[in-house]
Amino acid sequence: MSESLRKEVIVYKVENLSELSDQEQLLIESARTACENAYAPYSQFSVGAAVCNTDGTVTLGNNQENMAYPSGLCAERVAIFSASSQKPNQIFTAMAVHIKKSIDNDTIASPCGACRQVLYEYEYRQKSAIKLYLSLEGRGTWCTDSVENLLPFPFSLP
Ligand code: THU
Repeated sequence: MSESLRKEVIVYKVENLSELSDQEQLLIESARTACENAYAPYSQFSVGAAVCNTDGTVTLGNNQENMAYPSGLCAERVAIFSASSQKPNQIFTAMAVHIKKSIDNDTIASPCGACRQVLYEYEYRQKSAIKLYLSLEGRGTWCTDSVENLLPFPFSLP
């Protein structure tokens, strides 16, 4: 039989937000606020993101759509590109993502593949993990300790 490669995806539910630090709670709340300001007239699917660095600076982003649909950008990339463009080489420690609507009852708020690849590259550059808090309004918050957990076999150049 040929060799098979397998990695486990570890995402756990945060049962009570009070078990998190004040800074983590603020990050999650910031993503919820950012979601309120999304520009999503075409999908009606608002997403907010908040990313923080080792200084504690929080940068917000939300999805920005366009009538030429592929020209829009996801909340996660708006947030991290904005933060990195303002201060290159900062070390990101965590990102919170907030979505309002779920497709079905089994979904969690989870970044799309393109965002996972982009976020992964920051982990790769800074050589440290970025924790993700994924909140679905009315359903709760899930956490994973590294972007790589959601992208077990990331693309990277040789
Ligand atoms: N969206 C995000 O902002 N983040 C994701 O990870 C997935 C999708 C946005 C893109 C688009 O504006 C809307 O959600 C519907 O796909």
